[in-house]
Parts: sequence; structure tokens; C-alpha cells
Amino acid sequence: MKNLFITATDTDAGKTFVACAMTQALINTGKKVAVYKPIAAGCHREGDTWINEDAQLLTEFANGGQNINEVNPITFVDAIAPHIAAKKENLIISIDEIVQGYEQVKVINADINITEGAGGWRLPLTDNNSSQHNLFLSDFVKTSQQSVILVVNMKLGCLNHALLTYEAIKADGLTCIAWIANTASSQPMNNLAENIISLEQLLPMPKIAQLDFYHDSAMTLHDKICAAANEIDCSSLIL
Ligand SMILES: Nc1ncnc2c1ncn2[C@@H]1O[C@H](COP(=O)(O)OP(=O)(O)OP(=O)(O)O)[C@@H](O)[C@H]1O
Ligand SMILES: [Mg+2]
Repeated sequence: MKNLFITATDTDAGKTFVACAMTQALINTGKKVAVYKPIAAGCHREGDTWINEDAQLLTEFANGGQNINEVNPITFVDAIAPHIAAKKENLIISIDEIVQGYEQVKVINADINITEGAGGWRLPLTDNNSSQHNLFLSDFVKTSQQSVILVVNMKLGCLNHALLTYEAIKADGLTCIAWIANTASSQPMNNLAENIISLEQLLPMPKIAQLDFYHDSAMTLHDKICAAANEIDCSSLIL
């Protein structure tokens, strides 16, 4: 069983897009894939269930028979920093709940478990005015000893964001096993190729995909993710 954690240089960098594409790419090689989105901020209600779009998409792509509550145990209504959303709702985010949700994912016994983070690497879970010790989503990744995949949103500033994120992952004692160059904006950055070459020189782990922005308005999001799946080299992930 492989445990992969998808982080990114920023929010809106393409974590969900890449996590779904990676799920599809691994399923295409015959693997069973379970997914996890422990915390989602930005949800709407459908009947008794709080629905987050990332969790919904991940649930649709995975093939372990999970329902959305298993994929996403912690939901907040507002699309804001989760620890601030928690405070607004008079809640405290519990790392134990995140760990317990992950234990449920592991029970599925998939070949690969793919977890999508929230925001970037150092996402606060606690309100620093509370009596609690400061906790971050990266603490869960440490506890669960997942291998990290870094999605780099290819835009101006990405070199700094990518290197700092890589350094923080390493300083946490975790292994960043691969990175993906993703253009998450319809307007590609200037000198994209040169920026990718710089990152290839500066980051020690392999780049397993370079995803351009899929413009085609005739394609559904599902089609775009399936097209992106064909661009991901999963060989190092299934060893
Ligand atoms: N290569 C791409 N081609 C087309 N659309 C993309 C691509 N990458 C990302 N997108 C779109 O850009 C938006 C942001 O991507 P996504 O939701 O995957 O980011 P995220 O990092 O998961 O954000 P969050 O921090 O909110 O979870 C989405 O609408 C997604 O479908
Ligand atoms: Mg997302």
C-alpha cells in the first residue's frame, strides 16, 4: 500500500485536478485507488450531507467504493482558512479525527491512497489564541508518514514557492518523491520552459508530468482530467 499526499505551492494550484488525474492514471494501470480530503472549506448542503466540490470529484474518480463522507470527514461552510472557519463555527479541528478518517481509508486496502491537502504545505489547523499547541496539516502527513507529491502552479513566483515548500517538507523529515508542473491559469506564464528547466535543476526529485492548461470549452472537466491522466508518468509511483 502506497500513501501519497498531494500538496502544492498554493491554493488553486491544481491539487484536485492533479490528484484526480493521478487517480485515473493509476486506475488505468489496473490499480485500486482510495482518496482522502481530510479538510474542506467551502461546502454546500445536499440533504444531510455537506458537499465539497474537491471531495465530490475525488470520490467520482476513485475506485475503492468510498462515499463522500468517508473521503471528506471535516467540512466547513465558508471557503476560508480552515482554522478560521472552525473558529467561526465554534469548533476545534482535531488531528485525531483526521487520523481516524485516514484509518478508515486504509481499511479499503487499496494499492494506493491519495490524500489531497488544503492550501499549501504549512496549513494551520489551530487558532493560535486557543490553549492548544499549534498544529498544521503537515503534522498529519508526518504522523501518517506519507510520501509527498508537489504540484507547482507555473506562474511568476513559483520558483521561490516551490523551493521553500520542498525545503519545508524535507525539514519535516518527509520525502517529496515527485513534482508536477501545472499551468492552472488560461494565461501561461512568460518563459514557462526556462522556469521548468530551473526547477528541474533545483529540485532533486523527478518531474512526473508537465500539464498545460486545458482550454477546450468543448471538453468537460472530467474529460480534461482524463486527458491529463495520460500525461502523468506513474511508473515511479507503483514500484
Ligand atoms: N491544467 C489545467 N487545465 C485546466 N484547468 C485546470 C488545470 N489545473 C487546474 N485547473 C482548474 O483550475 C482551478 C483550480 O484547480 P484545483 O481546484 O485543482 O486547485 P487546488 O489546488 O485543488 O485548489 P484548493 O486549494 O482550493 O483545493 C480548477 O477550476 C481546476 O479545474
Ligand atoms: Mg482542491
